[in-house]
Amino acid sequence: MNPVIVDLGCGDRKIRHSVGVDCVHLSGVDKVHDLNVFPYPFDDDSVDRVVMNNIIEHLDDTIAVLGEVYRMLRPGGVCHIEVVYWNHKYTWSDPQHKHAFTELSWEFFTGKRKQYYTSYAFELLSFEWQYDYHLKNIPKFIKRFLGKFLCNVIAGMVVDLKKPYTEEGKKMEENMTCEYCMESETMHLNPKSDRMLCKSHRVDVTRNQRRCKDFRRRI
Ligand SMILES: C[S@@+](CC[C@H](N)C(=O)[O-])C[C@H]1O[C@@H](n2cnc3c(N)ncnc32)[C@H](O)[C@@H]1O
Repeated sequence: MNPVIVDLGCGDRKIRHSVGVDCVHLSGVDKVHDLNVFPYPFDDDSVDRVVMNNIIEHLDDTIAVLGEVYRMLRPGGVCHIEVVYWNHKYTWSDPQHKHAFTELSWEFFTGKRKQYYTSYAFELLSFEWQYDYHLKNIPKFIKRFLGKFLCNVIAGMVVDLKKPYTEEGKKMEENMTCEYCMESETMHLNPKSDRMLCKSHRVDVTRNQRRCKDFRRRI
């Protein structure tokens, strides 16, 4: 069965094979809905993957939005967020942006910081920096260092938050087999390919993709 993917605030750039939701009826939008209004038109535990590219900073109540995403996701489902970084000029140049985010923001949604207002906690599955386009020829480690002290170096963050499995679901996850090597061990949903993979092959996909031709064919 194909995974159910929902692209919230998709605009006219909906990701492939997803249900596009936006408050404006643009091409590719399947459901017109204001994301500041709850509930969203999806059942509990019914979605495998929620995509939020350049939208979370537009919405009024981040805690309520991520709570709604948590409700819609099935256990083990992933919320993929791309968002501008707090000290980049893009964050504050768009008059429609209502919030800014740092690398610590996610700790309030993953139980790492004490949560006073949320009853849900995601797992942080992955985190990546996006750097300013004009610095594309500078090595990453230099940009990472400069980004600690200067603005306009880090352009954004790419974050994958996973809704944890229930105890029962965890057992199921442990009993699954890797789609590549068929070994049975703890599986992870690969955010790029939406495949259930064991730890070693998850690393293969993200880091050694070019070296592993046979594997590339299969994903
Ligand atoms: C910066 S665009 C991002 C579009 C697309 N996700 C992308 O990355 O190219 C923000 C989108 O969010 C939509 N949007 C803003 N506020 C919204 C709201 N309250 N409810 C639904 N969509 C909203 C806008 O219509 C717009 O299409």
